[in-house]
Amino acid sequence: MKRVLLTGATGYIGSHVAVELVNAGYDVIGVDNFSNSTPAVLGGIGKILGKNIDFMEVDCTDANAFAKVFDRYPDIEAAIHFAAYKAVGESVAQPLKYFRNNLHSFENLVELMVTRGKGANIVFSSSATVYGQPALDELPIVEQQPFQEASSPYARTKQMAEGILKDCVNAYPNLNATVLRYFNPIGAHPSALIGELPNGVPNNLVPFITQTAAGIRECLSVFGNDYNTPDGSCIRDYIYVVDLAKAHVKAVDKMLSEGARWNVYNLGTGKGLSVLELVNAFIRATGVELKFRIAERRPGDVEQYWADPSKANCELGWSADTPIEEVLLSAWRWQQGLKG
Ligand code: WQD
Repeated sequence: MKRVLLTGATGYIGSHVAVELVNAGYDVIGVDNFSNSTPAVLGGIGKILGKNIDFMEVDCTDANAFAKVFDRYPDIEAAIHFAAYKAVGESVAQPLKYFRNNLHSFENLVELMVTRGKGANIVFSSSATVYGQPALDELPIVEQQPFQEASSPYARTKQMAEGILKDCVNAYPNLNATVLRYFNPIGAHPSALIGELPNGVPNNLVPFITQTAAGIRECLSVFGNDYNTPDGSCIRDYIYVVDLAKAHVKAVDKMLSEGARWNVYNLGTGKGLSVLELVNAFIRATGVELKFRIAERRPGDVEQYWADPSKANCELGWSADTPIEEVLLSAWRWQQGLKG
């Protein structure tokens, strides 16, 4: 069995990917410093799989501690790098925290994979925020779309890390890389044993919806209904986290079987959904009442964007097509489990 290293393995996306990789027959070594997750996530992963994954508590910015993972697991052939801070607003207030953590940990990973990995295949967890606000005639977004000025330090760390990776692929002949640009990941594992664990008041739409439905928040604010969209609310491409996780398995499969040196893929459904459409889908799917009101626009929000995922569809043999109602129901079940 081939071994895959997951940094940020107990985070929202990392935990779902750990499950899918093991289900696909890979050995996993997960690392995390629990800066935005808890050891209990390992229990959830273990319950789903019926066995625990190998895990080490490591801060990836600490090169010496990180190297110990390679001492213990000399058979690592691929790595998926999730370990990063991801709060856009916080990144604006504390940019250095973001550059230090997100870039330094990534540089350590690349160096260790190139020098210590049995193979040096890296999948990088990037984001659609690298594109900025596309013009209407540039929708849906294709991978060749040029980057715009980063809208936040968080977005800049993603742009910069992609550039670092490209330079390293050019410099180190044994290094292969795949960049995955996520649109808006939502939902939870169907078992309701792992899911998203927002810190404090959620910024993201779906955790705010489920917490409002659960009575933790009083009312959802829909940020703006005067955008240039059919119902006036912003449009995003919401992708089910389990579909997203499966794309990582396909990316690793492809790298290990074909050794492609550099690939970039958009991971989205290819369909845009407005905030109001998503709210209505949630009510339809769960039958739960949801208090919401129209509020002011949120500063910094992009009006509308969605992916052209056809490159990933064709080259990875993957698509994200779980119905939105099923996805929202999974988020609601996860929320209900947290409450109990
Ligand atoms: C979606 C839509 C809001 C909350 C962010 C990051 C991005 C990424 C995913 C990071 C917007 C509206 C939201 C609420 C609302 N990755 N909304 N009421 O802003 O598209 O992307 O998350 O980890 O980097 O920028 O996602 O879920 O915050 O918002 O009306 O209470 O929901 O205005 O239109 P966003 P989001």
